[in-house]
Amino acid sequence: MGGNVRAAGLFGGNHSMAAKMNVGRLEAKTVAVVGAQWGDEGKGKVVDYLAGSFEYIARSQGGHNAGHTVIVGNQRFVLQLIPSGILRPGKKAVIGPGTVVDPAALVAEIETLKKAGVDARGRLYLSDRAHLIFPYHLEMDKAAEAARGEAKIGTTSRGIGPAYEDKMARRGIRVGDLRDPGRFAEKLERVIKEKNAISQATYGRPLGTEGILERYLELGAQISVYIADTASLLNRAIDRGSSVLFEGAQGTMLDIDHGTYPYVTSSSATSGGCSTGLGVPPTRVGGVVGVTKAYTTRVGSGPFPTEMPDLEASEVRDRGKEFGAVTGRPRRCGWLDLEVLRYAKMVNGIDSFVVTKLDVFDTQSDIQVCVGYMYKGDRVNDMPGEVEKFSQVTPVYKTVPGWRKPTYGVREERDLPPAARDYLKFISDSLEVEIGMISTGPERDATIISSGTKLASWL
Ligand code: GDP
Ligand code: IMO
Ligand code: MG
Repeated sequence: MGGNVRAAGLFGGNHSMAAKMNVGRLEAKTVAVVGAQWGDEGKGKVVDYLAGSFEYIARSQGGHNAGHTVIVGNQRFVLQLIPSGILRPGKKAVIGPGTVVDPAALVAEIETLKKAGVDARGRLYLSDRAHLIFPYHLEMDKAAEAARGEAKIGTTSRGIGPAYEDKMARRGIRVGDLRDPGRFAEKLERVIKEKNAISQATYGRPLGTEGILERYLELGAQISVYIADTASLLNRAIDRGSSVLFEGAQGTMLDIDHGTYPYVTSSSATSGGCSTGLGVPPTRVGGVVGVTKAYTTRVGSGPFPTEMPDLEASEVRDRGKEFGAVTGRPRRCGWLDLEVLRYAKMVNGIDSFVVTKLDVFDTQSDIQVCVGYMYKGDRVNDMPGEVEKFSQVTPVYKTVPGWRKPTYGVREERDLPPAARDYLKFISDSLEVEIGMISTGPERDATIISSGTKLASWL
């Protein structure tokens, strides 16, 4: 007794594995990219750019409700579930346990990529722990929206919410279950019985479940080559010093816990979601990049304090081509909201902001920026937690002059008009955080990297 106790303490011996892991922890480059607003900030474009400097690109949450647009040369891709990094030859793409997967949508996405000359084989990894989306989830998504009437969320109708509901209710069926047809059939039968009882009681009709078993077993066979234990894969990669980029979907204000609940999506879209959704511990997420447009958009319902009046909104919508990448819905447009970005910085721990779509303001004469909120005559200090209060705040605006010169495609900070630089500096100073990257067009090379920034050091 006591013979092995050394000065370092009972558990303080020289564990070679732990020592190795620490080396990996210090050396591996691991950076999360999150949306700082209500989604569609240009994460796809940003991730595609950054992916050139990373080996693994991993999605931790959401499903094919996401639409990440990437333009490479004269090809335009809209990635929904597969990480944008797949477009870079040789990069490995990971779909983690925290996602919800519609296997039909996944197979279609793999096929679309293949037709465009992008082969996912051997470099796409799908977690055995991710939950499956079934046709009845889509049905329930639509039925729930219809039942909400005026108070509808404006979901993407992809079955995302109902699939996460089943996961949390512990009746979900996971990707790994597809590997054992007998077990899969048993689970599906049990779940369908339960879901039908719920549907009958709630909506007065059973669900359309015919042919699901055969269809899913067929799809399961098609995706089986991609199924893996992705948490082990990523952590081992980090142990070896490999770099990982986490690709967020949706955005901070759509996060299930931190967003404008209930007008949110059903997953953790903030940086913490990278850890829970991938099994990569918080101590191994080395940096966080927050993506924001030079203005704000929102698709679907819910409060939006800086929303522009129709005419102004439609001008920005036309210039910014603000139509949903997944649903084609016109996006609501508004001014930049620094209160939202300050909140996003706090809950995500953003080290560096990326400002996209600067070029959309090239013809704008005056630009308004929301610098804070008022509520019933008082200044609001913290982001309101209740959607009812958030709906009633009035923005305090500062007006800054536009630059009225083209910035489209500009690649050097010094080539930006002074008023554009002032706008960016104002944002950075107000948020007390760097702007590491500026996007001046949807193309890969329409990008400015600010030298001397944290973000630049990750490239
Ligand atoms: P994501 O969901 O965050 O990846 O964003 P989306 O792809 O849904 O929406 C962003 C849209 O803006 C896409 O159509 C992009 O091609 C486009 N885009 C991204 N960055 C820029 C930019 O700097 N300027 C312009 N004009 N368009 C951009
Ligand atoms: P990306 O990754 C913008 C919105 C929907 C709706 C709410 C809930 O492209 O930024 P859901 O179908 O998820 O239950 O819908 O969330 N929404 C998005 N808005 N960008 C997205 O993804 C979105 N994904 C979901 O419009 O208001
Ligand atoms: Mg999008």
